[in-house]
Amino acid sequence: MDDSRELSRRTALALGGSGALGGALILAGCAPSDSAVDGGGDSGGDAGSGASTPTDAAGEDVAALADIPVGGSIGATIGGEPVLLAQPTAGEVVAFSAICTHQRCTVAAAGASFECPCHGSVFDAATGEVEQGPALEPLPSVPVTVEGDRVIAG
Ligand code: FES
Repeated sequence: MDDSRELSRRTALALGGSGALGGALILAGCAPSDSAVDGGGDSGGDAGSGASTPTDAAGEDVAALADIPVGGSIGATIGGEPVLLAQPTAGEVVAFSAICTHQRCTVAAAGASFECPCHGSVFDAATGEVEQGPALEPLPSVPVTVEGDRVIAG
């Protein structure tokens, strides 16, 4: 009797696993996450897994192309998550997660660079690469496309 109960419980957990993941992604997209700083502090592993791009946000209108200076950058959100947009050359827009790969502070747009206010890391706005530590990993890129005069997620 106990065995069958244990089995059904495991099955439920296994089924719940994938459902919970989907639910978490949906919640992440809807959550009013205004403070992603000072989280769990379990940043021991390197940030190789990167930011999970909220795929639900594909097609979201992110910004006006004209709002991003050529050679400069701005902050925005995609799916409620902070991102950084840059326009290295006219009509070419790139986007990156604004979550610092050092300790997850929110990185700010600063012209041709992105600057983290917490410990001074600086990233190249055109590539997301680290220009100055302590961050070691680049900011993960986020897919965006230019459609007419708008920047669209995905
Ligand atoms: S959290 Fe960005 S430099 Fe430390």
